[in-house]
Amino acid sequence: MELTTRPRRLRRTEQLRRMVRETRMDKSSLIYPAFVAEGIREREEISAMPGQYRHTLDTILTQTETLLRAGVDKMMLFGIPAEKDPLGSQAYCSHGIVQRAMTAIKERFPEMYLIGDVCMCEYTSHGHCGILKGVEVDNDTTLQYLARIALSQVQAGADMVAPSDMMDGRVGAIRRLLDEQGFEEVPIMSYAVKYASSFYGPFREAAGSAPAFGDRRSYQMDFHNVREGLKEAALDEAEGADILMVKPALAYGDVIAKVKAQTTLPVAAYSVSGEYSMVKCAARAGCIDEARIACEMAASAYRAGADIYLSYFAPELAGYMDEGRLG
Ligand code: PBG
Repeated sequence: MELTTRPRRLRRTEQLRRMVRETRMDKSSLIYPAFVAEGIREREEISAMPGQYRHTLDTILTQTETLLRAGVDKMMLFGIPAEKDPLGSQAYCSHGIVQRAMTAIKERFPEMYLIGDVCMCEYTSHGHCGILKGVEVDNDTTLQYLARIALSQVQAGADMVAPSDMMDGRVGAIRRLLDEQGFEEVPIMSYAVKYASSFYGPFREAAGSAPAFGDRRSYQMDFHNVREGLKEAALDEAEGADILMVKPALAYGDVIAKVKAQTTLPVAAYSVSGEYSMVKCAARAGCIDEARIACEMAASAYRAGADIYLSYFAPELAGYMDEGRLG
């Protein structure tokens, strides 16, 4: 057979396959999202996310230690307060649950890099991501609250803040307040391109943050759109974002690739709760191989252009990288 080009030549052995691998990743780019809840005595497993927990102030420390041992030294924290109110006041309270968790983690494990999710939906009684005016989320009123949340987290020990609310102008508002208060070195990772997605279903059970009425489509993006995502990414960049995130990850590889082509900022992809639960539940039902699927999903996000990957599988992925199954 006269074949000059035989792609299979470079696929023959694991040694060769690894040499020509196009997508390389390592643990330094992994971020693990974790929940810490007020008013619980023991950690509670999240029923929609088997293997994930609402942590107490004690068990979040154990979780931190486990992550560090696995080589994951970055964590995104979500707080679940005991009391919710229309203004989400526990979100910016100096002794709110997430602020206390940050201070406690930093004290015991200063090497853990802490990222605060800046949003209101876990803290508001109505479950929306901002302050209501009638039945609408009022953009401009919400901005000052978001900036206060970010500041309170940084004062409690957060190394980075990540606004996930999708209000217009929030990156600029947060940047201004942080700078005024002397925190100009704290980066902002913006959930720049965040879709109104049913993949967040399990998270809302975890955080009790499903909206009491309506949905989030007046602020999160329509999943039919991609150019609108590029507009969001450009605006956040202009307002001073340091890292741009696309969320969810799994069904949005095209969006990751396009955002990556447009920006010179690092791009993050968030593999959200529904992605985790689909894999976990299908694996438990014996339908798929959890480890292989988790590796394939992670590689697809990096291949699309992600520099940073947020995943509930982060410690497992770190292990797979050690074993040479990924990376
Ligand atoms: C807060 C927030 C959400 C997620 C991250 N930050 C929920 C939402 O927008 O409804 C989702 C994360 C996940 O599903 O894993 N706004």
